[in-house]
Amino acid sequence: MQIINGNRTIKSPSVIHAENIIKTYNQGTENELEILHGINLDIKRGEFVSIVGQSGSGKSTLMNILGLLDRPTSGSYFMNGQDMNAAPDKALARIRNKSIGFVFQNYNLIARTNGISNVELPMLYAGLSPRARKERAIELLHMVGMENRMDHTPDELSGGQKQRVAIARAMANDPDVILADEPTGALDSKTGHMVMDIFHRLHEEEKKTIILITHSNELAAETSRIIHIKDGEIVPA
Ligand SMILES: Nc1ncnc2c1ncn2[C@@H]1O[C@H](COP(=O)(O)OP(=O)(O)O)[C@@H](O)[C@H]1O
Ligand SMILES: [Mg+2]
Repeated sequence: MQIINGNRTIKSPSVIHAENIIKTYNQGTENELEILHGINLDIKRGEFVSIVGQSGSGKSTLMNILGLLDRPTSGSYFMNGQDMNAAPDKALARIRNKSIGFVFQNYNLIARTNGISNVELPMLYAGLSPRARKERAIELLHMVGMENRMDHTPDELSGGQKQRVAIARAMANDPDVILADEPTGALDSKTGHMVMDIFHRLHEEEKKTIILITHSNELAAETSRIIHIKDGEIVPA
């Protein structure tokens, strides 16, 4: 595949390619603060990568940019070889829905809405028929071992069960990349390993590209590549 961006040609584009990403909050005010200082990142299809760094090092800021929830102050960001800086907000929302599966520390499930409806939601936005999204939601809830609790609302589920529903939801539109920001941060160690086992299965069996953000070196060691971030910069191990 060859995609042309202006005068730049990218062959076999990476899922994620970021060049010299800088993020400054409150730009132009007296509270201006540069958080990311020039991040370069290249993630190929099928990789399972972890981004490790202490609290406050800029991991979620980077995740928000990679997940198209926020834009960099400067630098380039290509997804599947497409220039995301050039995409209008509406296009970003569409790409986000189709191409990115999010998993958050606090699950971010819709309260008072059962598991199956939570998993169906991204497919509703994508325009799937009620029948197609129900079928797929059931299949995904089976995959994460939640078939017996798909009618339960989040407040009727344990943390590990909520995270399994959230992972099923992240898979809904068969995304190009799963971005997981501290997905085990609120779980005990045993449940955390169970969640990691699901990511390993998605990686190995579904060939998913996964970016795991964590401050746990132990969990990061399970992934195929570890990227260290410190004070907004990628540093050697
Ligand atoms: N919207 C914001 N406005 C100003 N500062 C922010 C904002 N979001 C995050 N920060 C600051 O950016 C730094 C990095 O935060 P974050 O990316 O959340 O780090 P991490 O996820 O690694 O803990 C922190 O000092 C945080 O206070
Ligand atoms: Mg964070």
